[in-house]
Amino acid sequence: MWTGFKILIFSYLATEVWTKRRYLSQREVDLGAYFTRNHTILEGTRFKRAIFQGQYCRSFGCCEDRDDGCVTQFYEANALCYCDRFCERENSDCCPDYKSFCREEKEWPPPTQPGYTEGCFRDGQHYEKGSVITENCNSCTCSGQQWKCSQDACLVQPELIEHVNKGDHGWTAQNYSQFWGMTLEEGFKFRLGTLPPNPKLLSMHEITASLPAQTDLPEVFIASYKWPGWTHGPLDQKNCAASWAFSTASVAADRIAIQSNGRYTANLSPQNLISCCAKKGHGCSGGSIDRAWWFLRKRGLVSHACYPLFKDQNATNNICAMASWSDGRGKRHATKPCPNNIEKSNRIYQCSPPYRVSSNETEIMREIMQNGPVQAVMQVHEDFFHYKAGIYRHVASTNEESEKYRKLRTHAVKLTGWGTLRGAKGKKEKFWIAANSWGKSWGENGYFRILRGVNESDIEKLIIAAWGQLISSDEP
Ligand SMILES: *[C@@H]1O[C@H](CO)[C@@H](O)[C@H](O)[C@H]1NC(C)=O
Ligand SMILES: *[C@@H]1O[C@H](CO)[C@@H](O)[C@H](O)[C@H]1NC(C)=O
Ligand SMILES: *[C@@H]1O[C@H](CO)[C@@H](O)[C@H](O)[C@H]1NC(C)=O
Ligand SMILES: *[C@@H]1O[C@H](CO)[C@@H](O)[C@H](O)[C@H]1NC(C)=O
Ligand SMILES: *[C@@H]1O[C@H](CO)[C@@H](O)[C@H](O)[C@H]1NC(C)=O
Repeated sequence: MWTGFKILIFSYLATEVWTKRRYLSQREVDLGAYFTRNHTILEGTRFKRAIFQGQYCRSFGCCEDRDDGCVTQFYEANALCYCDRFCERENSDCCPDYKSFCREEKEWPPPTQPGYTEGCFRDGQHYEKGSVITENCNSCTCSGQQWKCSQDACLVQPELIEHVNKGDHGWTAQNYSQFWGMTLEEGFKFRLGTLPPNPKLLSMHEITASLPAQTDLPEVFIASYKWPGWTHGPLDQKNCAASWAFSTASVAADRIAIQSNGRYTANLSPQNLISCCAKKGHGCSGGSIDRAWWFLRKRGLVSHACYPLFKDQNATNNICAMASWSDGRGKRHATKPCPNNIEKSNRIYQCSPPYRVSSNETEIMREIMQNGPVQAVMQVHEDFFHYKAGIYRHVASTNEESEKYRKLRTHAVKLTGWGTLRGAKGKKEKFWIAANSWGKSWGENGYFRILRGVNESDIEKLIIAAWGQLISSDEP
């Protein structure tokens, strides 16, 4: 598809080489007059694509007789071209699509409206004044003869996708339909949701794994191969800013399964955390992981099957469905049956206080190999949302108004393994394997790989884990 665009652009550029000089010499150029009408449809990078497809008159409209205001930007060459009948002279200064659109397509001007003045054009279609169309996250209203568009930065940035895929960055980007139409602000507001770690968490004592120092660490390690059926795959937080709950529940579930030697393999319920460990059930507007671990230690969680994700995370009735009580013998029990009444077991699972793992790459690897997946608090940049495959490293947006298109916020994920890959230039690249919470259609089946050993996006800055709290009657 892109090759097609490129050929198109190329051929226009080629035509342009000989027409460009003449554009300026042809008309008695009065630049002031050209811009008496502003054509909003040509403003903003999001419309470049439409223009690249050769839509000049098609987007702008056609004019009768000589109309020096009937001019549009020949974008690739930074020149002007015309869509009025006067352009059809020996030394034509018509836009490339003038002939095909203005002359051969007889619908224009609409026969019912000769000398048409009102309304706007887009993709060869005429829109009444007042029409509203959407373009990614922005909406455009036809006011008189031009589109007036909102100018929000969108979460999906086609230019950034193209930039990543054209370069040699080690990963590929994709246009995700679930993110299309969201503003950048909304993406960061609804798809992450882990508060920056507080100083208490950051000053936590680090524990090093007790694996003998000589133990050779394998080149590749994948938790689900070592513990098949005991680790849990990525869920989808949708537009609920609760990565604090998803990552914590998932790490806790893996750890309990591994520690109980497969006796308790249930996934734990992030919804239980979202609804019960946040004030008034507002767990979808962000939370802290130390609070989540506190809840796992003091109150405990039921399984994901027992307390599944609600369809509408934003519903106002997301009140906590159950609490837990202690039987005085070190065990807690749920006060109510499962919200999902097909599931009978409302067993409560608990964890030890969390501990911090050293930021040393080798120590993190030892910890994962010996005790299971760990939680990592990372920094998410705008390009991360587009990740499809490969080894992620941050690639900065190249947009002219780059500040507007940049953002950075904390997120929590689960590290499940590591590996190495020989890159294009024969250089060995080390990576972590991590589970995100944006569903299985994102990234590599819901997982992503990220550079290892260089603190990429702060992935090694804060690593947290905990033990399952199993009482003697729980032991296998
Ligand atoms: C047209 O746009 C230019 C610059 O983009 C601006 O200075 C001018 O005020 C605009 N004119 C109208 C009529 O909106
Ligand atoms: C991206 O995906 C959306 C929805 O799937 C689609 O409407 C849009 O045209 C795509 N954009 C680009 C630039 O490919
Ligand atoms: C959730 O509700 C709030 C307040 O009603 C609203 O501002 C927000 O846009 C909603 N979020 C989603 C994802 O619908
Ligand atoms: C990480 O720890 C290992 C031993 O556990 C040590 O050999 C290595 O030097 C440490 N790396 C750094 C960067 O401190
Ligand atoms: C990782 O990077 C962040 C900021 O870039 C820094 O604050 C932190 O100390 C780094 N951590 C390690 C282990 O290098």
